[in-house]
Amino acid sequence: MSGTELAEAGRLLAAARRPVVFTGAGMSAESGVPTFRDAQTGLWQRYDPRELATPAAFRTDPALVWGWYEARRHGVRRARPNPGHLAVAAIRARLPETVVITQNVDDLHERGGVPAPVRLHGSLFAPRCSACARPAPLPSDLPPPAGPPVQHAGPEPHAPAPPDGPLTPPACAGCGAPVRPGVVWFGEALPEAALSAAVEAASTCDLLLTVGTSALVHPAAEIPLVAARLGAPVVQVNPVPTPLDAICAVNVRGPAGEVLPALVRAAWPDAI
Ligand code: APR
Repeated sequence: MSGTELAEAGRLLAAARRPVVFTGAGMSAESGVPTFRDAQTGLWQRYDPRELATPAAFRTDPALVWGWYEARRHGVRRARPNPGHLAVAAIRARLPETVVITQNVDDLHERGGVPAPVRLHGSLFAPRCSACARPAPLPSDLPPPAGPPVQHAGPEPHAPAPPDGPLTPPACAGCGAPVRPGVVWFGEALPEAALSAAVEAASTCDLLLTVGTSALVHPAAEIPLVAARLGAPVVQVNPVPTPLDAICAVNVRGPAGEVLPALVRAAWPDAI
């Protein structure tokens, strides 16, 4: 990350009053939560999304899908918010009109101090019935969330190992159908309320900070475009170029856990 980019991004953040922070899987990478498309480590490099992240996959093999999400849920419970999550909370504390919009299904923004991010792709912690949509309780064997955020994030050392392999999903207490993970699968519509809140925020923001997304999955990837089209400057934080580069006022190349705290310090030297 170059000092010039950081200084310019800091100037834009200091001048903002209604920023949007838009995040993807890269936001949680330094907490030990895998992204989807990063070479070698990305989930879709290791697993076939057609077998795990579609309604058809769940109909075909509910135990395989439920087991996989259960393992991811345990993995997130073992993870802790990283300094990037804390910096997003610091921006919101400084600018109360900040809207945080996430594609992530982990709960690290909430545990990092942002109570209610706009969730475009659902949550690992909101299972519901696959037939009647009745909310279902979280499985009782889920370990409690790992300890407080730390400077050098990563898995909780002694947390129990996550389940590995197929697991029969619980039955809905109402209609008896299998319970499914509360995430948005490929081919499914985004939650209407969340999508319209995101478009509304992007349409009225005076800065959009996009962090850790490859911007390849639509319609979520259109949110930064909405802001740019309406004249708001867009600042991108990502170690590598993405399709958003061309619309960004500033591209800060680096990991969110390092760049975001530095960005907050650049905007408000007295902040941290
Ligand atoms: N800090 C910032 N960015 C990072 C970091 C990091 N430490 N590590 C990786 N990245 C970047 C990568 O360079 C990549 O551009 O984060 C991005 C992650 O991209 P994806 O894995 O494609 O994740 P995302 O954009 O969130 O995916 C969108 O796709 O699979 C679906 O529903 C799923 O919400 C997800 C959606």
